[in-house]
Amino acid sequence: MSAVRGEFSSRFGFIMAAAGSAVGLGNIWGFPTQTASNGGAAFLVAYLVLAFFLAYPALMAELMIGRHGQANAVVSLTKVSNKPWQKHFAFIVGFGGILCAGFILSFYAIVAGWMLSATAQPIAALAGADAASTWLSEQSLTRNVIFTLVFIVLTIAIISRGVENGIEKWSKRLMPALLGILFLLIAYVLTQEGAMEGLKAYLLPDFSSIFDTQLIVSALGQAFFSLSLGTSVMIIYGSYISKKENLVSLGAYVTLIDVFIAFVAGLLIIPAMYVAQAQGVEIFSASGKLLSEDTLVFQVLPALFDGMGSVGLFVGFAFFALMSIAALTSSISMLEAPVSYAVERFALKRIQATWVIGALIAVVSITIVCNLGALFGLVITLTTKVAQPLLGLMCCIFVGWIWYRNSLLQAIQQGNPEVQTTLFWKIWPWYTKFVCPIAIGAVFVHSLLS
Ligand code: PFF
Repeated sequence: MSAVRGEFSSRFGFIMAAAGSAVGLGNIWGFPTQTASNGGAAFLVAYLVLAFFLAYPALMAELMIGRHGQANAVVSLTKVSNKPWQKHFAFIVGFGGILCAGFILSFYAIVAGWMLSATAQPIAALAGADAASTWLSEQSLTRNVIFTLVFIVLTIAIISRGVENGIEKWSKRLMPALLGILFLLIAYVLTQEGAMEGLKAYLLPDFSSIFDTQLIVSALGQAFFSLSLGTSVMIIYGSYISKKENLVSLGAYVTLIDVFIAFVAGLLIIPAMYVAQAQGVEIFSASGKLLSEDTLVFQVLPALFDGMGSVGLFVGFAFFALMSIAALTSSISMLEAPVSYAVERFALKRIQATWVIGALIAVVSITIVCNLGALFGLVITLTTKVAQPLLGLMCCIFVGWIWYRNSLLQAIQQGNPEVQTTLFWKIWPWYTKFVCPIAIGAVFVHSLLS
């Protein structure tokens, strides 16, 4: 085991880091596009309910396990286990989460690479480098490989600096920048023709579709992906929080920020679609479905920016910089899950562990880039639709069924002596024992069958 463990130096630092993990392409790209293709505000309502009533309790389970264990995911889960089979189970769930985080990073880095090249493209155009600008805007294997690697190296550079000087310092800088750019873009888009129609579609629910089971499955998947659940990430971030902090409120802040940014991203993206439509770009099929999510980000929005003349170059740059920043604060958390394990398990130096694991993930990423058609969708489905819900459910089982009740109650009270008067204290332990596993399990089985 390494001698000194990192720790977040402040509440604000932890909130920015954990919210940075949660807020990513899932919020700014995934949530608005899912909302647009699943009945607008009905999806928003289902998402809000599931995020607060299922994803938040599951997030608390992971944070609580990590804070109690003060170690990587495998060791933290082992510490709440008692019988030998439970300790084996802890290894499977902890290591499974670490693998899941690594595989998510391998496809996430590809998409983030597209965002980086789209950020560089307006710069090249402004500099008058036309050939470079065209190269950056066209899908090609070389471009995808280069930008995927650039993104992975950026992630490695931050993680190799450790918890306080890497994760915390950069999350504290990047998250406020992200908010600033997001609000500037919204202010701009809402002044454009067609934006109000988009706002209506986003905010006025059509309740007829709210009980559509497919909608509920998608909304729960979105909530789990968005809160980075089932990947060991929140266990490891929890392990860097001091036992003096009030974890219940920290987890609530992270959930609120995550949901808030998804909601606000919807205020940008959905009106932007309608602005593009008002300019003659086709975005919805005859049945009202979104034509395709990639078309939205890589054709609709660039067409919109092009139509704005030279201002469009700045707006385009700001938009893709926003996406890249959001992706980076998430990708660092994905890399931290395996790195923290390797550092503690094999007594490696952080810098060595980061480069070795980063290189392994780069190999997987490049394999996917070279076989986009066959592998990209498969890895996304296996990680986000199968592994994340299953592992998230297992963490609830650890808290509800395996962790000794007295020790769990003590862990809830740490840093929060007044907790006994709260609803959380009265409800959460049995809620995590019964409601979360049954509800998550039911949605999971349904999604497999449909
Ligand atoms: N929560 C991130 C997003 O919404 O984009 C994605 C993510 C981060 C998933 C970290 C899983 C993970 F471990």
